Amino acid sequence: MAQLWGGRFTKGTDEAVKEFNDSLPFDQRLYREDIRGSIAHARMLGIQGIISPEDSAKIEEGLNGILADIESGALTFEGGYEDIHSFVEAHLTDRIGEAGKRLHTGRSRNDQVALDMKLYTRRKAEEIREDVLGLLEVLADLMEKHIGTYMPGFTHLQKAQPTTLAHHLGAYFEMFRRDVTRLNDTIVRMNECPLGAGAMAGTTYPLDREYTAEALSFDRPTRNSMDSVSDRDYLIEFLSDLSLIMMHLSRFSEELILWNSNEYRFVEMDDAFSTGSSIMPQKKNPDICELVRGKTGRVYGDLVSLLTTMKAIPLAYNKDMQEDKEPAFDAIDTAQSCVRLFAQMLSTVTFREDVMRRSAVLGFTNATDAADYLVGKGVPFRDAHGIIGRIVLYCIERNESIDDLSLEELRSFSPVFDEDIYDAISLETCVEKRLTAGAPGSDAMRDEISESRRWLDSQIKE
Ligand code: ARG
Repeated sequence: MAQLWGGRFTKGTDEAVKEFNDSLPFDQRLYREDIRGSIAHARMLGIQGIISPEDSAKIEEGLNGILADIESGALTFEGGYEDIHSFVEAHLTDRIGEAGKRLHTGRSRNDQVALDMKLYTRRKAEEIREDVLGLLEVLADLMEKHIGTYMPGFTHLQKAQPTTLAHHLGAYFEMFRRDVTRLNDTIVRMNECPLGAGAMAGTTYPLDREYTAEALSFDRPTRNSMDSVSDRDYLIEFLSDLSLIMMHLSRFSEELILWNSNEYRFVEMDDAFSTGSSIMPQKKNPDICELVRGKTGRVYGDLVSLLTTMKAIPLAYNKDMQEDKEPAFDAIDTAQSCVRLFAQMLSTVTFREDVMRRSAVLGFTNATDAADYLVGKGVPFRDAHGIIGRIVLYCIERNESIDDLSLEELRSFSPVFDEDIYDAISLETCVEKRLTAGAPGSDAMRDEISESRRWLDSQIKE
C-alpha cells in the first residue's frame, strides 16, 4: 500500500490512527469523478508543457484502464489505501511507472477532493432534478385525470370547502416545481471549477485553469484559491434543497397514510407498494409512505451535521472537511430513492372517487356557498354567516345536510331562500363556480394544467 506522503516521517502510522483517518471506505464512490478530473489535469499539463505529451498520453491511457477495471470488477478497492486519490495514483504508477508520479504536479488533494465532490454533487443534482421532473409528470397525469373528482378540502384537518383531487394534487405540483427551480439555481451556483487552486495558494506552474474548467463542463474556474478549497456551501445548499424535497414528500406521505386509513378510505395502495403484518392478517400497511416520512428526519440531520461541521473551520482546508462525505452521500442516496419510489407508488395508487365524493357531500363543505347565496340575495355576509351557522347546528342535531332541508325549513331561518338554493349549493356548483386563477373549477384547473405542462416541457432539457 503506497502512501502519498511519508518522506518527513520516521515512523509508520499507528493502525488505529490509520483506520480513523482513512476515507477510502466511503470516498471510493468518487472514483469516476477522480479519474475524470485527473485526465483533464494531465491533458492540461501536457498542453502547457509542464509534463511531456508522451507522459500526458500515458497517464490518460493508464487512468482509462483503471476506470475500465473498476467498472468491470477486475480492480477492487482493497489494499488499505488512504483515500480514492491515493488509490488511483498508486495504481496508475504501478501500471505506467514514472509518468504516473508526474500526474500530481501543480495539484493538491485539497483542490482534487473539492473538484471530485463538486463533480459528484453536480451529477447527482442533475439526476435528482430529473427524478423530481418524473414525479411531476406523474402528478400532471393524475391532475388531468381527476379534474372532475370531487373531494373535501381541509383546514385544521376539518372539512372546509369542496375541491377536486386535481386541485389538491396541484398543490404538490407547485411544491415540487419550486424544488426543481431551486435545484436549477444550485446547479448554476456550484458550476465553477476549483481545480488549480492547489493546496490553498494556487501554484507557480503555468496551469491553464480555463482549459480544465471547460474540459470538465464548468462555466468557469473558481476565483479565490483559498475559498476554492474550503468552500462546501454548494453541498449545504444542495442538502437544503433535498431537505425541502423531503419535507414535501413527507407531507404528501402523511396525507396518503391518512387517506389510506380505515377511517378515510380515499385511496387504495397497490399491493406491490404495501406490506403486511406478521400477526394481523387483515393488515395492508402504507410502509413506503411511512418510510419516506421517517427518512425525512435523516436528511434534515445530514444537513444540520454539515452546517455544524463547517461552522468553525478556519481557512483553508482542514481535515474536518472529510466529514462532509458521509452525510452528503447519505442525504443524496436517501432523497433520490425516496423521490423515485414515491413517484412509482403514486402512479399505482387507486383513488376511490365515490368515497371522496361522498365525503365532500357530507360535512357541510358547501356552508360558505350557502352563505354566499344569501349575500347574493342582499343579506350582509356577517348575517349570512350567522344564519348558515344556525342551519348547520340544526342539521347536526338531525344528522342531515343543508341540501336535505325543505324550502320551508330553510325559510324558517331566512325568508330569502328560494328554489334556486339547491342548485347554488350543489357540489358541482360549489366547485365549478370557483374560477379565479388557481381555484378548483374545471376551466381554471385546465388552464393551470396546461401551464404546468408547458413548464414541464421547458424543463426537459436536451
Ligand atoms: N480524504 C480527504 C477529504 O475527503 C482528501 C483531502 C485530503 N487532503 C489533505 N490535505 N489531507 O477531505
